[in-house]
Amino acid sequence: MSKRSIKIVVTGASGQLGQCLKSISTNWDYSITFLDKQNLDITSVKQVYDVLTTIQPDIIINTAAYTHVDLAEEESDRAYQINAEAVNTVTRFCKENETKLIHISTDYVFDGEGLEPYTEERETNPKTVYGASKLAGENSILNSNLAAFWIIRTSWLYSNYGKNFYKTILDLADKNTILSVVNDQWGSPTRAEELADFILRYLPQLSSETRGIYHFSNSGSCTWFDFAKAILNKHNSHTEITAIKSSEFPTKARRPSYSVLDNSKITQVFKYKFKNWLDALG
Ligand SMILES: NC(=O)c1ccc[n+]([C@@H]2O[C@H](COP(=O)([O-])OP(=O)(O)OC[C@H]3O[C@@H](n4cnc5c(N)ncnc54)[C@H](OP(=O)(O)O)[C@@H]3O)[C@@H](O)[C@H]2O)c1
Repeated sequence: MSKRSIKIVVTGASGQLGQCLKSISTNWDYSITFLDKQNLDITSVKQVYDVLTTIQPDIIINTAAYTHVDLAEEESDRAYQINAEAVNTVTRFCKENETKLIHISTDYVFDGEGLEPYTEERETNPKTVYGASKLAGENSILNSNLAAFWIIRTSWLYSNYGKNFYKTILDLADKNTILSVVNDQWGSPTRAEELADFILRYLPQLSSETRGIYHFSNSGSCTWFDFAKAILNKHNSHTEITAIKSSEFPTKARRPSYSVLDNSKITQVFKYKFKNWLDALG
């Protein structure tokens, strides 16, 4: 299949990753339709079938998700509706129409209690409603026996788009002279543009041979405090920052203390070279 002939649909197009994909899409010769929630609500079975049948995409990139980690503890039904049931609907469409699927998932499918980076084979054990709903979405794809799919688990996604830690720190630094950030939760920040670029660059290789789960995060690891400090440095901010413990910053959903993804499978399969998280920050 030549790149020009690949027809792609991106769901959740007004979200962070959706906007990143859109911002770099002109670099590629694909025919991409970006659909936000108004144009395609993935929880509507009728809309999924009507809209996608009209477009007949070769590949669907599903970035649509319920991503409110704390609120999900109260809105469990809604989280499952979007992250699990709707993913099942999209997967069913893909199966019936021989459409390939790229689905985005999360480090929250693990318990976050590990001591070494999580490989794709590691046992899942989500500790939050958000993580459990995302895992249910993954499982509906895995159980469907879809011919060609990638489930890409990522972590600590940030960019200039949408709501994310990077933007929150800059906002807070604008309004405060001192910030307190947790220093006992480890993970790997992931530049959303880099993930978007990986997806568009490598999607011609999406096939039954490469199907499966992949971990994608910038390499190396840090705490939220390290990440915040690096963000402030990059922007020459004079805002002071202090390290605090998770117990001093209670949240509704329990946060993983160690959430580093091992991304060596992508390196092996696609010969992809990840940027270190600090270099990716720029
Ligand atoms: N952000 C992170 O740190 C992070 C980390 C790991 C994994 N991920 C995963 O990465 C993916 C992209 O995340 P993101 O940061 O781009 O999230 P995001 O900014 O919250 O984008 C998700 C988009 O999906 C839309 N959406 C919600 N319900 C929908 C529905 N029923 N139909 C269609 N669209 C719907 C949202 O619209 P509304 O906002 O209007 O509801 C939003 O525009 C998600 O699968 C997420 O689980 C994210």
